[in-house]
Amino acid sequence: METQEHMVEIGPLCEQVLVTLNLGVIVVDQSLRVLEWNDWMSRHSGIARDTALHRPVLELFPGLSGTRFEAAIQQALLLHQPAILTGSLNRNPLPLYANPANKHDRLHQAIQILPLRHSSEQHFCVIQVSDVSAAFEREAALRRQATLLNDSLQAQSRLMQELEQHNDLLDLQVRERTAQLEELARHLQDVTEAEKSQLARELHDELGSILTAARIDVSWSARKLGDSVPEIQDKLQRVLNNLSEAIQMKRRIIDGMRPTLLTQFGLVEALEFAAGEMADVNGWQLGLDLDAKAQHLPEDISLALFRVAQEALTNAAKYAQATRVDLLLQLDPDEIWFTVADNGVGMTEEARNTPRTHGILGMRQRIVARGGDFELVSVPGKGTRVEVRLPLAAGSGVAPTATPAPEH
Ligand SMILES: Nc1ncnc2c1ncn2[C@@H]1O[C@H](COP(=O)(O)OP(=O)(O)O)[C@@H](O)[C@H]1O
Ligand SMILES: [Mg+2]
Repeated sequence: METQEHMVEIGPLCEQVLVTLNLGVIVVDQSLRVLEWNDWMSRHSGIARDTALHRPVLELFPGLSGTRFEAAIQQALLLHQPAILTGSLNRNPLPLYANPANKHDRLHQAIQILPLRHSSEQHFCVIQVSDVSAAFEREAALRRQATLLNDSLQAQSRLMQELEQHNDLLDLQVRERTAQLEELARHLQDVTEAEKSQLARELHDELGSILTAARIDVSWSARKLGDSVPEIQDKLQRVLNNLSEAIQMKRRIIDGMRPTLLTQFGLVEALEFAAGEMADVNGWQLGLDLDAKAQHLPEDISLALFRVAQEALTNAAKYAQATRVDLLLQLDPDEIWFTVADNGVGMTEEARNTPRTHGILGMRQRIVARGGDFELVSVPGKGTRVEVRLPLAAGSGVAPTATPAPEH
């Protein structure tokens, strides 16, 4: 009795549960007729419970004949095997809508088909439908975001690539400009050297002969005059002295413009002479280690090295307060190493950071323009060293020096 009472109460309760469920529930029998069609199904299919009951489910959803949906129901009824129809494989098979009057937004569905065995003869099947639109939307939104993210990453990587290309281009331009500037500097130095050489020749040929002729004439006149007019004799002697000084000055100027030493005696002897003279004047102890093979270097290389030596020695004399200066010249088959080092006070921080150091810049330019390396190493209190490396074209180490300069 008690059990019966209980069962009587559970019927309406089940119905209420079915109405309240936020799930679609369809129960069909072996001939696929609908035995249960809950409220949710009516709401989303637009087919009322009364219309649906006792009709074959494939009549209500004619589009589903022969589909995986029908096969899954048959499988549950005959083989008692459950099935799940996922969105990705069976895209929303039932014509269910949020609002069936407006058939635009078909619900995204997850469908479970479950066998229900009442007795050995009577088999049923429960079709359970849930609305996964919200999850689907979330997934779609996530996918959209992932795509956006991917796009922006790709855009960023494209931008980085462009930036790198731009940088490479700038690098190339800087290298090209630097090469052009070096070429220009070399050209200007060559032009300057050629002009100095031309001027030196003119000073020697023109001014030299005028001064010499004047001295010969004046000294002839002085001899002729004898002691007869001592005041004039005195004046003539002063003119002669002035002329001698002018001739010497002309020689010094020519020497500065075109290192006659270099063209007459070659690099090694010119360096020995120039450094020796400076050492005498400044009281330096002089260390010379000059490779004799360097005597016959090409003219432009000899001149570049000689000019570097002149500037480095002049700087040592002007600023270093050194007691010792060393020159080292070493010739390898394909390069030259040249060093001028003093043991003086070294460069001050201020001097090192001064941008307008034309002497040092000039040395650097001469070397770099010929494809070499220039380095200035200076430690306060420990002296200054100019270091040069110049590449030699094959065979240039034995090339003869330039034609001898005219005498003056
Ligand atoms: N051997 C050296 N010892 C100490 N200071 C030096 C030496 N050589 C150069 N300097 C410093 O570096 C500066 C720049 O030298 P440089 O470019 O030759 O220009 P400038 O000789 O016309 O001043 C000098 O003014 C000096 O202060
Ligand atoms: Mg200088």
